[in-house]
Amino acid sequence: MVKELCVIEGDGISHEVIPAAVLILQTVLPDVRVSWVKAGYEYFRETGKPIEDDGLEVAQRCRAVLAGKASSPSYPVAGYYSPIVRLRRQMHTHANLRPTTYLPVPTSRLGLDLLVVRENTEDVYSSEEQQIEGGATVLKLVTRGATERIAHTAFRLAQSSGRKRVTIVHKGNVMPQTDGLFRGVSYEISHQYPNIETDDLLVDTAAYWMVREPTRFDIILTTNQYGDILSDMAAAWGGGLGLAPALNLGEGIAIAEPVHGTAPDIAGKGIANPTACILSVAMLVRYHWHDNDTAQRIESAVYSALNDENYTADLRSSNALSTEQYTEEVLKRL
Ligand code: NAI
Ligand code: MG
Repeated sequence: MVKELCVIEGDGISHEVIPAAVLILQTVLPDVRVSWVKAGYEYFRETGKPIEDDGLEVAQRCRAVLAGKASSPSYPVAGYYSPIVRLRRQMHTHANLRPTTYLPVPTSRLGLDLLVVRENTEDVYSSEEQQIEGGATVLKLVTRGATERIAHTAFRLAQSSGRKRVTIVHKGNVMPQTDGLFRGVSYEISHQYPNIETDDLLVDTAAYWMVREPTRFDIILTTNQYGDILSDMAAAWGGGLGLAPALNLGEGIAIAEPVHGTAPDIAGKGIANPTACILSVAMLVRYHWHDNDTAQRIESAVYSALNDENYTADLRSSNALSTEQYTEEVLKRL
């Protein structure tokens, strides 16, 4: 069967890092059919639309998406919505996987190898915000069904990747109905995986340990917002946002996207680090197309390029490589 990939370029440095990742993919898997879709805030300002008319359908048809980040203003803009948030919802990608593993760069922490498994459809990111007298409220949603699904995903990933422990992260002491349910249901599911050790931490304590001793973590199983924050903290130990990949997984559907945003401070300069996007593509190849060898080939080339100190400007202040030069170094090592 022909593999299809929908590529959404997005805003800012997405114009630089997404094409680099596509180039790498097309080198290792030349038969993948790529469809490009325009979306994001820049596109909205030009056309009044957050995403091309048939963009969501193209994504749905391809079943696999590489998504660059879109800028999201921190205030409401009439007619605009985040295309990537819409896409995650429409494609029912219930899990967001964010690994952080040691990479040979000065800022990475030796011994680190953790995976944040984040519930991707509920919690306070449901867009159910409402204005009330004197302020606003948001709905926090936790259901048994979604929690069972994400817990199974976490424990299955633990088994398939030879990991040992799942840590449930929550704030059940303050929110016993919502986070308490998440904790309880996750423990119930854990009994079906007796060979995996399970424990739990309050999110503030987890944040403390993430700063103090991140190597204590193996798999973190958590709700949408805590996963968002903890995985960005973990990314600092992995060597920074420029290196942090992510994958949204649904049933037979996947969206690869870097953890970082559009980096407006460096956009257009050709100096952004494409590693996060390249490693996100490797995750797509592994978890969605089930091609471990090719994923490994991409990861080894990245590891080797970094090991030879091919650094972009986020990793070294002088004599840094451009996005293009770094990508060339990875290509050479494939
Ligand atoms: P950001 O991740 O874009 O940038 C934070 C810092 O990291 C900046 O100094 C940036 O230069 C650096 N950085 C990020 N990626 C890099 C890379 N590949 N290479 C080198 N340096 C890199 O976060 P920020 O500035 O808070 O957000 C900028 C925009 O991105 C906002 O509009 C935000 O809404 C959007 N964003 C969107 C996300 C999404 O999921 N759609 C996630 C995060 C941010
Ligand atoms: Mg985030």
